[in-house]
Amino acid sequence: MAILPGKPTQAALDAFTGRNIMDIESLSKEDLETIMQTAAYYDQALEEKRLLDDMKGKIMASLFFEPSTRTRLSFESAIERLGGKVITVSETPTMQTSSTAKGETMYDAIRVINYYCDVIACRSPIKGVRHEIARAATVPYINGGDGSGEHPTQALLDVYTIYKEKGTLDGLVHAICGDLKYGRAPHSLLDALSKFDVKKIILASPQELRMPAENIEKIKAKGIEIEECFELDYAVEHADMIYMTRVQRERFGSQEEYERNKNLFIMSERHIQMFRPGAIVLHPLPRVNEIEVEVDEYPGAVYFAQSGNGVPVRMALLALVTGCVK
Ligand code: NCD
Repeated sequence: MAILPGKPTQAALDAFTGRNIMDIESLSKEDLETIMQTAAYYDQALEEKRLLDDMKGKIMASLFFEPSTRTRLSFESAIERLGGKVITVSETPTMQTSSTAKGETMYDAIRVINYYCDVIACRSPIKGVRHEIARAATVPYINGGDGSGEHPTQALLDVYTIYKEKGTLDGLVHAICGDLKYGRAPHSLLDALSKFDVKKIILASPQELRMPAENIEKIKAKGIEIEECFELDYAVEHADMIYMTRVQRERFGSQEEYERNKNLFIMSERHIQMFRPGAIVLHPLPRVNEIEVEVDEYPGAVYFAQSGNGVPVRMALLALVTGCVK
């Protein structure tokens, strides 16, 4: 599949309108193509500094119950770029401003917020809460991360970045590295990669932070080659796309477990010599210590541009689920 910038057909737009984006599993290959093409269309509009009003008169509720910089701000930037408006709840367990602090369930909160907006982007620390939110939402709901569960919009911008940098995902070896147990971005990316004709997926993690078996089994059942390994060097030497991730400190059962694992997967300058020609390095960010800053100079280190791609991809998602692509 090549992605050419383009608006969705009326039939594709109709098929998206009103849908929730909860995970990658429930998106078809055609859905991914529509999202990528629409993202490329908005990317071009941003580059040409065109003023858009596709979502004029629409309001997005931006509900973030866990720390976020990139996801929240790129969602909010996306709706503003489309001419829409945003209302926000942004809080953490230690800094609460909404009625969830009074014990309100997510279900009740969403039942109310439906009346205030046309689309909801929501992040929560609770794995699986996306199902509860989807039950309550009468406007389209986009999952901005549910605990250690899924992070579909991240995976979509990851796929978009690989397209932009390599022209294709097919025929390539992709390595997902780091905390594959608690990392929701790796969970969703694995599902996304499995929709393509990839050559192989390498899952590289410390022994204690392996990708959950059920996530691996469902991909293997599709006939995709998956290789697990427990050292970063192997992944670095064999992959065309290397996806690094942060050890998810906040999701560990104990401080000891975190301490044992926090320094095991670190990409440093010495790895640059080991890369395959044209290899690219991605990271959802924020980074802690897992990519040393010297690697930033490598031309294939695209993680900052990757974050930027969050805006056109989230513009595409917002406009598609509200049926607003003009
Ligand atoms: C990721 C997340 O929140 O899961 N960050 C992001 O959305 N860009 C990755 C992480 O926090 O490690």
